[in-house]
Amino acid sequence: MEIVVSGIRPTGNLHLGNYMGALKNFVKMQHEYNCYFFIADYHSLTTHPNPKDLHNNVKQVLAEYLACGLDPESCALYIQSDLPEIPELYMLLNMHAYKGELERVSSFKEKAQSHPDNINAGLLTYPVLMAADIIIHKATKVPVGKDQEQHLEMARTFGNRFNRIYNTEVFPEPYAFNYGSNLVKIPGLQGGGKMSKSDGDNNVINLIDSPELIRKKMSRAVTDTGPTEMNTAPTPSVQNLFDLMKIVSEENTSKHFTDAYANCSIRYGDMKKQLAEDMITFLTPIREKIEAISNDTSYLGKVAKLGAEKAHDSATKTLNEVRDVIGFRKFY
Ligand code: TRP
Repeated sequence: MEIVVSGIRPTGNLHLGNYMGALKNFVKMQHEYNCYFFIADYHSLTTHPNPKDLHNNVKQVLAEYLACGLDPESCALYIQSDLPEIPELYMLLNMHAYKGELERVSSFKEKAQSHPDNINAGLLTYPVLMAADIIIHKATKVPVGKDQEQHLEMARTFGNRFNRIYNTEVFPEPYAFNYGSNLVKIPGLQGGGKMSKSDGDNNVINLIDSPELIRKKMSRAVTDTGPTEMNTAPTPSVQNLFDLMKIVSEENTSKHFTDAYANCSIRYGDMKKQLAEDMITFLTPIREKIEAISNDTSYLGKVAKLGAEKAHDSATKTLNEVRDVIGFRKFY
């Protein structure tokens, strides 16, 4: 069975866009592939989080993934820092990763520009760590967005380089994986393109947002001055609301407001209220699950342990091969 690896950076709560985008696909993939999904807590150290935030964010992401349907029995769901094999492979790969090629990576250049006071070696070698994450399980498929394309190319470079230097075929080539290519785009609330935290918390509906907060955010969602002619196409910000409705509302609710728009009788206030209620209905069971799971420390512990064991089995195998071809032989 083909091997899939993906890492999730523990950066706060997941929103509806994360859920309808990547996460729902992960839930399907876990039954079709040999999946390794992990929380990339080593990667998050590049920005020096404080220990309490780091721990809480890891716990929150784990609880949210479980609540959304990742099944620790069907996939290997683990925390990166539970696997010492990953930093070991990272260190070994670093010996053949060149300063020049790392400096040319666009994510490095962007971060170096936006945080000139914190250009650390971890940031520079981020693609090496990510390569180690992937090739340690000999993965061939990596479900990530366009922004990770260059990192994947580096993973292939490092894997191929290792194979060539040591004249082996330990590492297969990993490629970006577009599972179910008709990805639904989840728009944001502030009129912009997609639902994303980078446009502020008011642009996103988080999975754990309370009903009151959802109502408040929806009431502030951007619209326009309203249609003045019959049967015109909505402006982008209003189209966003229609798109969200298609996801969370009943079909005849959507139709009601589409018709009202077409004949210019629509009241955006009513539409936003309806949308808020439908989002609440859609998200309440998920929010309740997240709350229950994040309070169940013993369940979270079991999940993390099982995941670490599964991932460890696969990682050790690869690392033993790697150590052997490099020439590390035991004296005892
Ligand atoms: N760099 C990825 C991101 O920013 C996270 C990540 C770390 C990852 N290691 C990975 C993704 C391995 C896929 C595979 O989203």
